[in-house]
Amino acid sequence: MLDWHRFALMIPMRLTNRRKACRPDAGRLPLAPFGRAAVALLTTFWLFAQSAAATGRKPGAPTFYKDVLPILQQHCQGCHRPGEIAPMPFVTYRQTRPWANAIRNALSQRKMPPWFADPRIGHFSNDPSLTSAQIQTVSSWVKANAPAGSPQDAPSPPRWAKGWNIPRPDRVVRMPRPVSLPAKGDVEYTYEIVPTGFTQDRWVQMCEIRPSSRAHVHHAVVYIRPPQSKWLQQAPIGSPFTESSLKDPHDRRDALWTDSDILLVYAPGSSPDHWGSGMAKFVPAGSDLVFQMHYITNGHPATDQTRIGLVFAKTPPAQRVLTLQLTNDRFVIPPGVDNFRVEVHGTLPNNATLLSFFPHLHLRGKRFEYNIIHRNGRVEPLLRVNYNFYWQLSYRLAKPRFLKAGTELQAIAWYDNSRNNPHNPDPDAAVTWGDQTYDEMMVGFFDVAVAANVDKYQFFVRRPRK
Ligand code: HEC
Repeated sequence: MLDWHRFALMIPMRLTNRRKACRPDAGRLPLAPFGRAAVALLTTFWLFAQSAAATGRKPGAPTFYKDVLPILQQHCQGCHRPGEIAPMPFVTYRQTRPWANAIRNALSQRKMPPWFADPRIGHFSNDPSLTSAQIQTVSSWVKANAPAGSPQDAPSPPRWAKGWNIPRPDRVVRMPRPVSLPAKGDVEYTYEIVPTGFTQDRWVQMCEIRPSSRAHVHHAVVYIRPPQSKWLQQAPIGSPFTESSLKDPHDRRDALWTDSDILLVYAPGSSPDHWGSGMAKFVPAGSDLVFQMHYITNGHPATDQTRIGLVFAKTPPAQRVLTLQLTNDRFVIPPGVDNFRVEVHGTLPNNATLLSFFPHLHLRGKRFEYNIIHRNGRVEPLLRVNYNFYWQLSYRLAKPRFLKAGTELQAIAWYDNSRNNPHNPDPDAAVTWGDQTYDEMMVGFFDVAVAANVDKYQFFVRRPRK
């Protein structure tokens, strides 16, 4: 079913990397015709080779400052800079040079930047992939012994807001109390309710979740709780709690279930969200933000105090962004099976513009796809992902897609519960839905844009179709 009420996660997003027009041959020498032109070319080459020999680098070899740094700035530094998720920064020549070979390998195997969509299906505005020409440039640079070149050729450094991957937030909302985490064992989902103190309605154009102890956060979801909401009504404000710490039976049920709108989800490898102009998430005046934290332990005790940064829309948008989900929570993955399929369908109750996808599975997740099933039975693929638990990314359509009420959407997940899956915590287990990573999930989140005055409840009211 098209599910809007199950508790859960949603959508992060890659940010800086606008897809470049793909010109696979750009940067290569044109094939010289025979005759004079070829001779001229050879002569130039020879002269160039002479001067290059003097400076100890290969002729025409790309340099760090001129050719490689722009690529790093645009495709890598979002993560490879101090304070971000990658272990080593690629900001200066000195930092990058020792990694030259590893960089070439990672690029030629297309392991970096992380991206898991089948390139034959769909175009995504946050696809950070390099063009073949860019990979070639870096590869030639490495083969030529990774020359620095002249610092004067360097592009101006990108302006990062310190500590954020979004521009400097208008508001930062932080969990008021740090959560103490044990060295070992499972940690129940932990909540903290934080009043925004907003005295007026706010439209959020961009936001980013920043855990203080990234290594301990498996995922975080920030929900919007409007003032009239009855969700977690008796639960404490401003201090951490879990389902089992709550007294009120309604609240205990609420800790596992909500129809509240999601502001943002953080998961491994995810990045901030940034909606197109004229679209934003709505946070009514007086709302609370509810942090739902799934912590993991790693042998070291720690504390975490996650925060979310918000950049407000300058003017009220024409459209409101809602995060919806296709969920199937009734499956049993038999032990040892290496390609178990779980699917779910839903029809859109109203017209909506499809913006992006965020598939969520756990350690046995293998593939995920979203399709439209047309009336005549034709299956139109929208996204195919080779699922990687450690890189939960969102996939944002390069061209948002208008869908009419009644459009049938399908999501399909495949799981590998065999011994061949190196991440499988227990190939002998029959696996069902559950919170912990040794359980499984099947959630196909997707963002849609609707009219600015339509909320999630109104969107799900099905009207008779003419
Ligand atoms: C979304 C974040 C992200 C982006 C973007 C990204 N990286 Fe990484 N990269 C990481 C993280 C995290 C690691 C360490 C963990 C791992 O190896 O998966 C890593 C590891 C690496 C490694 C080491 C791999 C190895 O075999 O040890 C190389 C080399 C690398 N990145 C190069 C790049 C280059 C070059 C780019 C840009 C073209 C890039 N990365 C873009 C996050 C990123």
